[in-house]
Amino acid sequence: MPVVSIEKVGEHDGKEVTIRGWLYNQRESGKLLFPIFRDGTGIIQGVVSQKENPEAFAQMQGMTQESSVMVTGTVRADQRAPGGYELHVTQAVIVQKIPESEPYPIQLKEHGVDFLLDNRHLWMRSPRQASILRIRAEAIRAAREYMDGQGYILTDSPIFTPAACEGTTTLFEVSYIDDQKAYLTQSGQLYVEATAAALGKVYCFGPTFRAEKSKTRRHLTEFWMLEPEAAYAHLEDMMVLGEGLVSHVVQSVVKNRARELETLKRDVKKLETVKPPFPRIQYDEAIKILQKSGKEVKWGDDFGGDEETVLSSQFDRPVMVHRYPTAIKAFYMEPDPKRPELALGFDMLASEGYGEIIGGGERMSSYENLVKRIREQGLPEEAFQWYLDLRRYGSVPHAGFGLGLERTVAWICGTEHIREVIPFPRMIYRMYP
Ligand code: 4AD
Ligand code: MG
Repeated sequence: MPVVSIEKVGEHDGKEVTIRGWLYNQRESGKLLFPIFRDGTGIIQGVVSQKENPEAFAQMQGMTQESSVMVTGTVRADQRAPGGYELHVTQAVIVQKIPESEPYPIQLKEHGVDFLLDNRHLWMRSPRQASILRIRAEAIRAAREYMDGQGYILTDSPIFTPAACEGTTTLFEVSYIDDQKAYLTQSGQLYVEATAAALGKVYCFGPTFRAEKSKTRRHLTEFWMLEPEAAYAHLEDMMVLGEGLVSHVVQSVVKNRARELETLKRDVKKLETVKPPFPRIQYDEAIKILQKSGKEVKWGDDFGGDEETVLSSQFDRPVMVHRYPTAIKAFYMEPDPKRPELALGFDMLASEGYGEIIGGGERMSSYENLVKRIREQGLPEEAFQWYLDLRRYGSVPHAGFGLGLERTVAWICGTEHIREVIPFPRMIYRMYP
């Protein structure tokens, strides 16, 4: 029999096929069994009749949840069945039966989140978690497709680095060979600035690390970031690239992962509006909006989750806030020549209260100003010599940004917390499994 995946079973209506997977659940009703199989691509309900297939019935009767099975049967379209098809089982091979004395730990009922996270390696088998991971994969695929299509060249950044990129308070120090110290990268930006001067338009896409003490639903200590960087580019170019990238990712998921979004009961209408142009507001204006809505903020404050939620709730698509005060932004940001107290940077805030998904802007291109900044911030000048070389030799205006993958996917999926959208989340108090 041809082995087929459950997601493709509709192409075999009326034919006999084999499915290899696991028993998700089973209801027994006298001489009939109603197993539900899963294979990672979806779930399908089966029917096993004792009268018609006594051998298969004997194999499947009393079979335990998550036991691995290979079943053969005829595919029948059935409107009432989840997924629209049923499998009339003629043959069943049990690969491994989970003994009743030691059942699968995750039952089909509500469990506490700590228990589920302790069992993340099993929890991901649930239709909801598997759907989220499939959406994550589509988001990555679409993001790369977009960047490649825009002529950006993938250049990977190192994970071991000699210095901080995003502030020294969130650095993970690791002991390197022979008493040397290294840090896990917080961002590949400084390195893509170098590759941008070599190749023009580049991006990196990999894991980044922050020793974040914040225990919020938006923070991981290990997360993935896509970071474009382009020579001869300015703030406005990056806002255009950012909205193009985000809308392509969202619309690709809507188009190619409709079934998964349905499993998550995601309101797709809220995603369909995510198309350029995204609104752009200046920091000054954002402060006014926040004050009007009763938030106690003053010019010069950075925004926390609450402020971001208020701002993003004003729009039906992500909003880009640009020109924050230089004082609250990273050392490498280029000041606005017209108002040097403002940085030529922007954040993109996702809708529905998911907060900042992109941070970026124009980089400081003057050697003198950059050295000054490095000294002011007490950063190790030695470790930045190579970075300063990019300003010594053929410096050009350039800009880029970082898109946080997990925050973006959490928003697309509508999950409560970003820990659900990475296979094995790393958080302040969680390293297991
Ligand atoms: O705003 P951030 O810190 O910007 C940078 O790292 C720049 N060097 C990027 C660049 O210009 N190339 O981080 C960028 C994005 C945030 O907008 C957010 O989506 C995500 O990375 N992010 C996190 N995601 C999960 N957990 C955390 N602890 C995160 N910190 C940042
Ligand atoms: Mg940021």
